[in-house]
Amino acid sequence: MINGKTKIIGIFGDPIEHTLSPLMHNAAFKHLKLNYCYVPFSVKREQLKEAVQAIKALNLIGVNITVPHKEAVIQYLNQLSEEARYIGAVNTILNENGKLKGFNTDARGFIISLQKEKVSVKDKNILILGAGGAAKAIAYGVLKEGGNLYIFNRTLSKAYKIRDSLSGIGKIEVIEELNNQVMEKIHIIINATSLGLKENDPMPLNPALLKKKHIFYDIVYPETPIMREAKKIGCKTIGGLGMLLWQAALAFEIWTSKPAPVKVMKKILKNFLKN
Ligand code: ATR
Repeated sequence: MINGKTKIIGIFGDPIEHTLSPLMHNAAFKHLKLNYCYVPFSVKREQLKEAVQAIKALNLIGVNITVPHKEAVIQYLNQLSEEARYIGAVNTILNENGKLKGFNTDARGFIISLQKEKVSVKDKNILILGAGGAAKAIAYGVLKEGGNLYIFNRTLSKAYKIRDSLSGIGKIEVIEELNNQVMEKIHIIINATSLGLKENDPMPLNPALLKKKHIFYDIVYPETPIMREAKKIGCKTIGGLGMLLWQAALAFEIWTSKPAPVKVMKKILKNFLKN
């Protein structure tokens, strides 16, 4: 029940209608009987500054930041965590007595989701398809965990940019052309493009290049055509729900200082997507 003491957390994005974050966080608050409420805010690019100032004016506990604001929001914050600084993107803000601190829980969320599938990236060759915001967070996570990273992207300059900004952390190579020779040495492939979201999207990778020994991780959900191909070939496949869940769990802990009820959050997510 919302009353005078309810603490508010929000999410800023555009479009925001399809976000699953309110579902997960409100279920978690209810389960732990915390007097918090999580609400979506549709924030246009040109009003991001005012929206961020409103976090302080309205005394929100914090917010999530989603597309297209994860990078642009940084200029309005007082402090950044180390991951957020390296990745150059923020998905979680904490309001600490009027000081806004930015975090990026996507990188760690990705790694935890892999660990839950008993997959380690350490000393493995990892191919990331894509070089947008999600790809960069995943790249940071993989490098921090000691993986050898290969990046392929339609726009090569963006892949080189990621290499240049993260090369201090670990080994990164930009792949200009995907072929069998490259694919032979790869252990884990991650689709970090947005391809597969829309019906007529091309595949992010020619399925003929997939091999049974590859682990295929797709951050896009529900199941994409390339994911179906990977399954057909016999690859171990991992869907993007785990990353969504764990980035949320980590954000929850930043705001409330309490362990997130991950099982509850996972259950509501799965139930929702079944319908
Ligand atoms: P996000 O923040 O979700 O990562 P993004 O920053 O817009 O979103 O990145 C989208 C990724 O999907 C990019 O790597 C993009 O490739 P470009 O850098 O070349 O734009 C990739 N992508 C989107 N549509 C694509 C398409 N039709 N073909 C190939 N790659 C595509």
